[in-house]
Amino acid sequence: MDHFQYQAQALYAEDCAVADLAAQYGTPLYIYSRATLERHWHAFDRAVASHPHLICYAVKANSNLAVLNVLARLGSGFDIVSGGELTRVITAGGDPAKVVFSGVGKTAAEMKLALELGIYCFNVESRAELELLNEVAGSLGKQAPVSLRINPDVDAGTHPYISTGLKENKFGIAMDEAEEAFLQVQSLPHLAIKGADCHIGSQLTELRPFLDAMDRMLALIDRLAEKGIVIEHLDVGGGLGVTYDEETPPQPDKYAAALLERLGERPLKLIFEPGRAIAANAGIFVTQVLFQKENAGKHFAIVDGAMNDLIRPSLYSAWQQIIPVQPREGESREYDIVGPVCETGDFLGKSRALVLQAHDLLAVRSSGAYGFVMSSNYNTRPRAAEVMVDGSEHYLVREREKLEQLWQGEHLLP
Ligand code: LLP
Repeated sequence: MDHFQYQAQALYAEDCAVADLAAQYGTPLYIYSRATLERHWHAFDRAVASHPHLICYAVKANSNLAVLNVLARLGSGFDIVSGGELTRVITAGGDPAKVVFSGVGKTAAEMKLALELGIYCFNVESRAELELLNEVAGSLGKQAPVSLRINPDVDAGTHPYISTGLKENKFGIAMDEAEEAFLQVQSLPHLAIKGADCHIGSQLTELRPFLDAMDRMLALIDRLAEKGIVIEHLDVGGGLGVTYDEETPPQPDKYAAALLERLGERPLKLIFEPGRAIAANAGIFVTQVLFQKENAGKHFAIVDGAMNDLIRPSLYSAWQQIIPVQPREGESREYDIVGPVCETGDFLGKSRALVLQAHDLLAVRSSGAYGFVMSSNYNTRPRAAEVMVDGSEHYLVREREKLEQLWQGEHLLP
């Protein structure tokens, strides 16, 4: 459930008419709903109820400062993958003590920043990274809190580009090397074992892979306990899918209940890293029809938004619902919704039945996660503006990029 609904034949974002927002802020435009973000975050938080836990929103899904700030105000933790994301979290008022740092390629400078700010935990992905973290922590006279990301080798059954838990992926430490790696942590003086973590992929719509991963992680934690290695928390990563079309992913309460059941009596704190499940359906992408065109019997609606603004359809063949902001009466026609970028792969949707005229506004739903954050300036296109609605209020949370900003830092030859 989200807060982008029709009222009297016009699409609303909470209590704001989307057409009014487009008129005021221009298109292409991202619109986020504060109430939806909060609702999704609370759904996770409530799902784990009284069991010790931390919800660490995956910043990569949508890192706009206003989005992070809304979640920080709820007491959210954050899952980051770069010094840049960490700095965003701090700038947005997030608590570094609730930050987990994921990613396969942390630099010494990023480790130093995170240690100085006092983050909750480093999710370490390789033995080489352990060595470097030990060195950096030592040079600061600190002990780094460490979790090891273990690759549980389960098939998440999702798109290969966003599946991360198979042993041939670059992520994590192989399960059969896990115990040895924990012993290595123990032997390094500037590291302290805190937890174990995994993340098997994104947009998962079944419980099964999550439960398989959980079973494997718990078996590992039990084996470690027998060796006297005590783990305080288990970080189960993110990955819970959302409804783009007709998928029926488990709701956070079902998902959490199933994991808690597997956990049994073990006194492990649980950490969750949801990104998409919180942000995707809290955002839409609004674009305007520039022209209609017919080529060899195929109808195209050429819109002002493109693959540089929203790359998921081009990159993953992702399907996102495209709806009119002000629906028209009449006979629908099948359109490919394409942008101005000079690539055949530049489309937002294919074969969509719509009644359209030039200048109509279209909304691409479920664009709050992996939307703006993956945008680029390809074809020297300034990036879109972002707006957040809160009831009947609306705020510009990122200005539309200006052309001059695009070549700032570029230099002519003397
Ligand atoms: N934790 C880790 C370590 C991750 O790598 C990710 C996502 C998450 C948490 C959050 O996963 P989520 O709850 O959002 O599924 N750009 C792709 C998705 C890439 C996901 C990468 N990792 C897309 O647009 O579908």
